[in-house]
Amino acid sequence: MASMNLVPVSEAVTPPRFYIKSGEKDGLISRKSYIRTHTHPNFIIRTKKLRSTLNRAHNHRSISNSIRNDLDLETGVIPRLAGKIAIITGAAQNIGKSTAKLFAKHGAKVIIADIQDDLGQSVCEEIGLETASYVHCDVTVESDVENVINFAITKYGKLDIMINNAAIVGDVKLSILENDKSDFDRVIDVNLAGVFLGMKHAARAMIPAGCGSIISIGSVSSAIGGVSPHAYTSSKHAILGLMKSVAAELGKHGIRVNCVSPYLIPPSVPAEITDLHPDIFVNIYSNIKGVSLKEEDVAQAALFLGSDDSKYISGHNLAVDGGFTTINPGFGLFAPAK
Ligand SMILES: NC(=O)c1ccc[n+]([C@@H]2O[C@H](COP(=O)([O-])OP(=O)(O)OC[C@H]3O[C@@H](n4cnc5c(N)ncnc54)[C@H](O)[C@@H]3O)[C@@H](O)[C@H]2O)c1
Repeated sequence: MASMNLVPVSEAVTPPRFYIKSGEKDGLISRKSYIRTHTHPNFIIRTKKLRSTLNRAHNHRSISNSIRNDLDLETGVIPRLAGKIAIITGAAQNIGKSTAKLFAKHGAKVIIADIQDDLGQSVCEEIGLETASYVHCDVTVESDVENVINFAITKYGKLDIMINNAAIVGDVKLSILENDKSDFDRVIDVNLAGVFLGMKHAARAMIPAGCGSIISIGSVSSAIGGVSPHAYTSSKHAILGLMKSVAAELGKHGIRVNCVSPYLIPPSVPAEITDLHPDIFVNIYSNIKGVSLKEEDVAQAALFLGSDDSKYISGHNLAVDGGFTTINPGFGLFAPAK
C-alpha cells in the first residue's frame, strides 16, 4: 500500500477514473471506489506518504473542484448536476423515473411531467419532496408544456435541462394494411409533436439564460427499421432530424440539443414483440457479451448529456444499444457460424 501512486488516466475520460499503481497489481478503479477508499478513516491514517500522494492527485487540475468541495460523504456520489433544474417528461415510470432518481442523486431539482398523476406524485415522494415536484402535463397539449416550463421558472428561476422522454409505442400490427391512420397520428402526436413542444418551450426559458441542455429519448428505431411498428419508427427517426435542426438553431444561444437512443428494455416492450422474439433481451442481439441494458444505463447517458461533462457535444445521437444499430447480426466477418 505504501508504494501506491495515484495518477489520473486521462483528462478526457468521463467519468474521471484513476489509475492505481500498486506493485504488480495495476488497474483502473472507478471514481466511486476512489472516493470510498480515500474517505475511509483507516485509509486516511494508514500512511502519511499515501495521504500526500492522494493530496497531490487531488490537486491535479483534471480532478474537478466538485470532488473537493461538493463530495457527498453519505452517498459517495460526486454531484454532476449540483444546482441544476431539470424537467423530465414521462417520468412516472421506467426510464424517465430512473433518470429522475439519478438526476436527484446528482444534485438536480427534478420536475416530473406526466399524465399519470398518482404515479408521478409517488415518484416525487420516493425521491423527496424538497427535490422533486410533479406537474400534470400531456406533451401533446401546448398549454400543458408551457405550464410545466413556467412552473420551473416560477419555482426555481431557471431551466437547465429538458428531457423529452414521454412516448407511446402505439398499436403493434404486423401488416401496414391493418394500420389505422388515427393510431399513426396519435403516435406522431406524442412522440414527435410532443418533443417539438418540449424543445420549443424549453428554448423559451433557456435562450435568455444563454445555456441549457435539451435531450430527447430516441430508440434503436431512430436508426433502423423493422424493430417497432411503422408509426413508432417514423416518429423516432423524425426526432433525430428535429434534434439536428434545433441544435443548428440554438447553438448560438449556448444551448445543446442531443438524443439518447436505447435498445429495448423490459417491461414496456409490448407483448406482441416479446412473444415473437422471446430472446429479445439477451445479448445475441447486442455486441456486448454478458451485459443487458437497464433503465439506469439510459439514465447515465442522459446524465452525461445533461451535465457540463458534455459541454461541447450538440447535435449528437448517443446510441445506448451495445452496437446493435451499427452491426448487422445476420452477416459479418466476426460473427460466429450458425
Ligand atoms: N423501454 C424500451 O425498451 C425503450 C427502448 C428504446 C427507446 N425507449 C424510449 O424511452 C422512453 C421511455 O420509455 P419507457 O420504456 O420508460 O416508456 P413507458 O411507456 O414505460 O413510460 C412512458 C411514460 O410516458 C408517459 N406518457 C405517455 N403519453 C404521455 C403524454 N401524452 N404526455 C405526458 N406523458 C405521457 C406515460 O404515462 C409513462 O409514464 C420513450 O421515449 C421510449 O420511446 C424505450
